[in-house]
Amino acid sequence: MAKSYNVALIPGDGTGPEVANEGVKIINAVAKKSGFVVNFEKYNLGGERYLKTGEVLPNSVIEEFKKFDAMYLGAIGHPDVKPGILEKGILLKLRFELDQYINLRPVKLYSNIETPLKDKKPQDIDMVIVRENTEGIYIGAGGFLRKGTLQEVATQESINTRFGVERCVRYAFELTKKRNKANKLSLCAKTNVLTFASDLWKRTFDIVGEEYKTITKDYCHVDATCMWLVKNPESFDVIVTDNLFGDIITDLAAMIQGGMGVAAGGNINPKGVSMFEPMGGSAPKYTGQNIINPIAAINAGAMMLEVLGEEKAAKDIENALIRALESGKIKSMSAGKMGLSTTQTGDLVASYL
Ligand code: IPM
Ligand code: MN
Repeated sequence: MAKSYNVALIPGDGTGPEVANEGVKIINAVAKKSGFVVNFEKYNLGGERYLKTGEVLPNSVIEEFKKFDAMYLGAIGHPDVKPGILEKGILLKLRFELDQYINLRPVKLYSNIETPLKDKKPQDIDMVIVRENTEGIYIGAGGFLRKGTLQEVATQESINTRFGVERCVRYAFELTKKRNKANKLSLCAKTNVLTFASDLWKRTFDIVGEEYKTITKDYCHVDATCMWLVKNPESFDVIVTDNLFGDIITDLAAMIQGGMGVAAGGNINPKGVSMFEPMGGSAPKYTGQNIINPIAAINAGAMMLEVLGEEKAAKDIENALIRALESGKIKSMSAGKMGLSTTQTGDLVASYL
């Protein structure tokens, strides 16, 4: 019997279903070639369902997700739904309830992809950002006082636990070692201002770092990190950071590797169910036109297979993608300017598998 994996598929909103389809196409093709099977089970979650039924994410569905080997997400976000409902009710709820405490976002420039850093080559932009994914300012601590009056006060607190910081930092050190590229881990924080939260991060980083003698430790303030990402991206190998800083620097990093059409991420629970997604949102204005770039979703599929232990299949997808890009047939990473449709782009990658 061939090895099989059960994956919950959440196509979601906007262009999510279109890019997820291409990802599924590539995953199935590589699985067939490698001798394993991926069974996708589709879940209808997102703005459409919420608008129709008022349901966001039933708890029973979270329980079902816990039984899968992984989850594969297109995109969540709907122009007719008030901001916060789907983000908090689906994306953040999944991260928290499934304890996907790492948000892993590789940043890599492939050939024939235009980056604003024109003279940089693929070897200059190749790093992984490890973002803490279940704490910090995202947990919703805080509140209003005298809401709606001129005396209103709003607070929003960043909660950082030794436990949460340590498991994230440890994951990052292990990843740096396994990656074995520059063997360098940079902590991104703001110790000059966040003298409590960043201090905990720095002390934890130093203590855990003692166990990793072969890894070069580096520290960058978050503002300087933004600057170096553009000026000297080659100076980064792995970056570890908190939830909010990670959110911000991974959008910047996504741009230097060519944009949201390429950038993928994993919400990772190393001992549980992880979820993989293209980083771009649901791009409502491109919905249904077969023009959105599926490469990020294909990359997310490769990440999923790698975490499932199918490292060879993941490499095969990456190599097929590199060859598809080297063919020069994909003219741009932007929706509508690729010179190929969404499905043709997926077919092109598949043809190199
Ligand atoms: C991301 C997104 C989410 C975040 C939003 C949609 C809640 O920007 O995955 O980076 O801020 O984490
Ligand atoms: Mn973000």
